[in-house]
Amino acid sequence: MNADGRTRLNQTPEWTALAKHREELGEVQLRELFAGDPGRGSGYTLRVGDLHIDYSKQLVTDETLALLRELAAATGVFGLRDAMFRGERINITEDRAVLHTALRAPRDAVIEVDGENVVPAVHAVLDRMADFAERVRSGDWTGHTGRRIRNVVNIGIGGSDLGPAMAYEALRAFTDRDLTVRFVSNVDGADLHEAVRDLDPAETLFIIASKTFTTIETITNATSARTWLLDALGDEAAVAKHFVALSTNAEKVAGFGIDTANMFEFWDWVGGRYSYDSAIGLSLMIAIGADRFREMLDGFHLVDEHFRTAPAEANAPLLLGLLGVWYGNFHDAQSHAVLPYSHYLSKFTAYLQQLDMESNGKSVDRAGRPVEWQTGPVVWGTPGTNGQHAYYQLIHQGTKLIPADFIGFARPVGELSEELRAQHDLLMANFFAQTQALAFGKTPDEVRAEGVAEELVAHKTFRGNHPTTTILARELTPSVLGQLIALYEHKVFVQGAIWDIDSFDQWGVELGKVLAKRVEPALTEGAEVPGLDASTKALVATYRELRGR
Ligand code: F6P
Repeated sequence: MNADGRTRLNQTPEWTALAKHREELGEVQLRELFAGDPGRGSGYTLRVGDLHIDYSKQLVTDETLALLRELAAATGVFGLRDAMFRGERINITEDRAVLHTALRAPRDAVIEVDGENVVPAVHAVLDRMADFAERVRSGDWTGHTGRRIRNVVNIGIGGSDLGPAMAYEALRAFTDRDLTVRFVSNVDGADLHEAVRDLDPAETLFIIASKTFTTIETITNATSARTWLLDALGDEAAVAKHFVALSTNAEKVAGFGIDTANMFEFWDWVGGRYSYDSAIGLSLMIAIGADRFREMLDGFHLVDEHFRTAPAEANAPLLLGLLGVWYGNFHDAQSHAVLPYSHYLSKFTAYLQQLDMESNGKSVDRAGRPVEWQTGPVVWGTPGTNGQHAYYQLIHQGTKLIPADFIGFARPVGELSEELRAQHDLLMANFFAQTQALAFGKTPDEVRAEGVAEELVAHKTFRGNHPTTTILARELTPSVLGQLIALYEHKVFVQGAIWDIDSFDQWGVELGKVLAKRVEPALTEGAEVPGLDASTKALVATYRELRGR
């Protein structure tokens, strides 16, 4: 039994039915599925807002989808979804509500946490952010010496970096090109060095983004940034004009020396990896302006509403989540590739890695018992067509099953020249060709028909049958980006709900943090660290020897 009295996932009749169905389907071929249903190409599609989602090239039949939906119903996905939207404390190990959906709720919405409507506070912070962002953009907010701010450096890590950094790249075409916006996350000093080396401190604003304001990487970089600034401007008072904080922790912000009047707050019911549409998005808002930021939030909200209200058969996040369960749990797929055919989405998959892997990289259920089924996949990928000339070989002809999402757009964005705009069709020709090749491959007979020598036929044969989802939109606007992210957020939610894990904690990152703190004196002072294992001890000794001081 589960904590809530339900039967454990792998003992439910719905799970057994899926396992049996998988066996019966065997190595079902996409070629056969398409031959048997001429309407499959348009029938196996969904429309959500601006997103056209085609799942016809998935190894599923109507029966598979029906069985998967039954699994979702039996595992209480919809009940948990409603509890999340209502603000219940579904993050059980941290005893917190999970309300990133409130960050994009309209002004007149009412969402209560412990009897208090949180929506007015969300909009109050958004309004303050908008006011500040517009002051920076217009030149009204100046640095300590009265010079205009021309550079914005966001210092944060994980959810306090990946979201705004990804979205800044994604929406580059909508940014103020007179502003330089950079993101520093790594505690490797090279990151901050490279980010500021060509910047004028008098024109640079640092945004210190940290939910807890205790994260060692961020606080270390923020401290070094302050030194860099004060070395140039020579006056402690400069901090007030050059540093703002995004955090839930006013006390720590004040302790660091940032005036809390320059702090933009969010709340413990916003998970780090779900936070970029909170105050954590300030750097993005400065780059694209408050109106565009709000368009993005509206895109998120559109998909939130879809997820909350659409029937199961037409519910896109549910579908994507169920497909992941189908491959992870019934085909032993270990990974999931996300392959955007947009240069602007170069950081999209890296962002999804945290969203998905930090959420669903769990091996105990909500009651703390080991799970007896696979949970979150390894998420990976980079923009096409670059991947085509690197790792697609393995997807096409390797031994692993790698389900993939292909994301593309009908039009390029930005001020491209005629010639560069024309390249878009070539980009998208690759996009369509790849999913076609992955699905239908090339049979030995087709290879022979091309006159290929017999000894090369096996090498030139493409088995095909590699499942893909195609997500197509007209263009990559702020709203479309919001829609895409919300789609994946809720997909991750669906999977976590089915696997009966807490998708909103991240205890797995703690041990490394503690050990780093413990081992640091061994590196810096050569201190004897009690309990250090022999391997690490030897490595530290080698490190000190190589370092030479
Ligand atoms: O170490 C993991 C983590 O807690 C992430 O979940 C979070 O996004 C990141 O660290 C940064 O945390 P903070 O915003 O508190 O600095």
